[in-house]
Amino acid sequence: MLEIDLNETVALVLGGSRGIGAGITRAFAQAGAFTFFTHTGSPAYRDRVSALVEELHSTGSGVESIVADATSSEQTDATVRRVLEARGRLDVLVFNVGRNPARAAETVPDEEWQSLLDLNLSAAFYGVRAVLPPMLEAGRGKIILIGSSAATDGGGGAIDYAAAKAGLVGMMRYLMRNYARRGIVTNVIHPCVIETDLLRQRYGEPAKRQQLIDQVPVGRLGQPEDIAGLAAFLASCRGDFIAGQEILVDGGRTMYR
Ligand SMILES: NC(=O)c1ccc[n+]([C@@H]2O[C@H](COP(=O)([O-])OP(=O)(O)OC[C@H]3O[C@@H](n4cnc5c(N)ncnc54)[C@H](OP(=O)(O)O)[C@@H]3O)[C@@H](O)[C@H]2O)c1
Repeated sequence: MLEIDLNETVALVLGGSRGIGAGITRAFAQAGAFTFFTHTGSPAYRDRVSALVEELHSTGSGVESIVADATSSEQTDATVRRVLEARGRLDVLVFNVGRNPARAAETVPDEEWQSLLDLNLSAAFYGVRAVLPPMLEAGRGKIILIGSSAATDGGGGAIDYAAAKAGLVGMMRYLMRNYARRGIVTNVIHPCVIETDLLRQRYGEPAKRQQLIDQVPVGRLGQPEDIAGLAAFLASCRGDFIAGQEILVDGGRTMYR
C-alpha cells in the first residue's frame, strides 16, 4: 500500500485552525507528524480549536495549538522558538494564513492595501525568515506556501489579495534559487473554490453557490482535504522531487470554466 509517512517529522502550520489550514493540520498529524498550528485566538473559534486538538489527541496524534498573530514578526519568531524548544527540530513550514475582501480596486484605501499585504505576504516572509536558520542548520526543510488561483488569473475580486498571492510565487522562486541546493525545497499550492468559511462568506446563498459549482469542470466545490492531501504528499519523501512548483488545485476551474 502506498502511504504518506510523516513520522519523525515536525511541522508548523501558520493559520492551521480552520478551513484548509485545519485540513492540513489534521492530515499531517494523521500521517504521523508532530504538528504545531497557529491561530488568532479569536473567541469566536475557540471551540473549534479545542475540538481539533481533542480529536487529534484522541487518536494519539501529536499536536499543539499556539495563539500567534502571523502579522507580528515577534510572535512568529516566538512560535518557531517554541517549536524548537519543544521538539528540537522543524522540518516543514506551511504558510496558510490569508484573507480576501473582494471589492473594486478604486475603492481600496492605503491602510487597507497595506494591511492586506501584511497578512497575505509579509506574514509569509516572517515565517520563512524564522524557519530558515534551523532548516539551514539541519541541511533540510520543506516550505509550502498556500497561494491562490488569483495569482495566476487575477480572479478572486481583490487587487491587494491577487498582488500578495503573486508575491508568494516570487518568494518561492527566490527561495528555490538560493536555498534548494542547501536542502530547503519550496512549493506553492494554489487553491480555488475550496469550501471553507472564507468561501461561504461570499457564496453562502444557494444560487450563488450553484453558479460557482457550474464553473468547476469536475462538478463540485473542493474540500480542505483536497489541499491537505497534496500538502502532506509534498511534505513527505514522496514529494522530494517536486520543487519550485505552482500547483493549482481547482477542479479545473481556472483554465477550463
Ligand atoms: N477557500 C478557498 O477557496 C481559497 C481559494 C484560494 C486561496 N485560498 C487560500 O487558502 C488559505 C486558507 O483559506 P481558508 O479558506 O481555509 O481560510 P479561513 O477558513 O478563513 O481560515 C484562515 C485560517 O488562517 C488563520 N488566520 C487568519 N488570520 C490570522 C493571523 N493574523 N494570524 C494567525 N492566523 C490567522 C485563521 O485562524 P482564526 O481561526 O484564528 O481566525 C484560520 O485558521 C488562505 O491563504 C487563502 O487565501 C483559499
